[in-house]
Amino acid sequence: MFNEEFHFEQPIRWAMVGGGRGSQIGYSHRNAAQRDGLFKLVAGAFDLNAERGRDFGTNLGLDADRCYANYKEMFEAEAKREDGIQAVSIATPNSTHFEICKAALEAGLHVVCEKPITFTTEEAEELKKLAAMQNRVIGVMYGYSGFPMVQQAREMIKRGDLGDVRVVNMQFAHGFHNEEHELNDPGLKWRVSLKHPAQPMFWVILVLTLSICVK
Ligand SMILES: NC(=O)c1ccc[n+]([C@@H]2O[C@H](COP(=O)([O-])OP(=O)(O)OC[C@H]3O[C@@H](n4cnc5c(N)ncnc54)[C@H](O)[C@@H]3O)[C@@H](O)[C@H]2O)c1
Repeated sequence: MFNEEFHFEQPIRWAMVGGGRGSQIGYSHRNAAQRDGLFKLVAGAFDLNAERGRDFGTNLGLDADRCYANYKEMFEAEAKREDGIQAVSIATPNSTHFEICKAALEAGLHVVCEKPITFTTEEAEELKKLAAMQNRVIGVMYGYSGFPMVQQAREMIKRGDLGDVRVVNMQFAHGFHNEEHELNDPGLKWRVSLKHPAQPMFWVILVLTLSICVK
């Protein structure tokens, strides 16, 4: 069991791609990963805008030379350092996950990726194979599986309280993902643009995730 008196002698040297200033999920990663001192954030390519990303990273206490303009530069530079990163979290828009995960595994890193990890099963299989070849872990954030209500539903189904489940009907009010500024802000419009199938995919994945979780 971990508590605040536990000190990991060598925290995992960890970086983020995405999750920059103002992003929705970046803080959750940093807060959770560093809470028990198991991970230490030492580098990042936090933002599409390199300057803003560097400013953000240095405000978090990182060395300026480890706040990179993009993930390719980061993986290359960190691989040359003795104290280079060992793991990376990817918290960028959905359409970028596959290529960044692939590059991270190829660079020999352990990977935690935001959902959806890929858009197709074939791509997911490719990453799984690559992770096995590289002897690295790749994981995706299915935080909802930890929600007490989902766990209770799972237990009720297991116990047979509900009989055979034939239909799962759920609602998740998420109105703020349809605001005008999201249509116009270059950093946010991936959520609502059909060019980057984030919004339809979001719902499909959420429903599938919850359905799998309760089974
Ligand atoms: N697990 C969950 O509950 C949960 C919740 C919200 C979002 N998400 C997922 O997290 C991911 C990010 O979502 P968000 O809401 O934080 O998005 P966001 O648009 O709020 O933030 C994205 C961040 O990534 C940066 N970025 C974009 N492209 C980049 C690139 N190529 N390289 C480096 N940085 C880049 C942006 O500048 C920004 O800082 C999405 O895949 C989303 O589906 C998961």
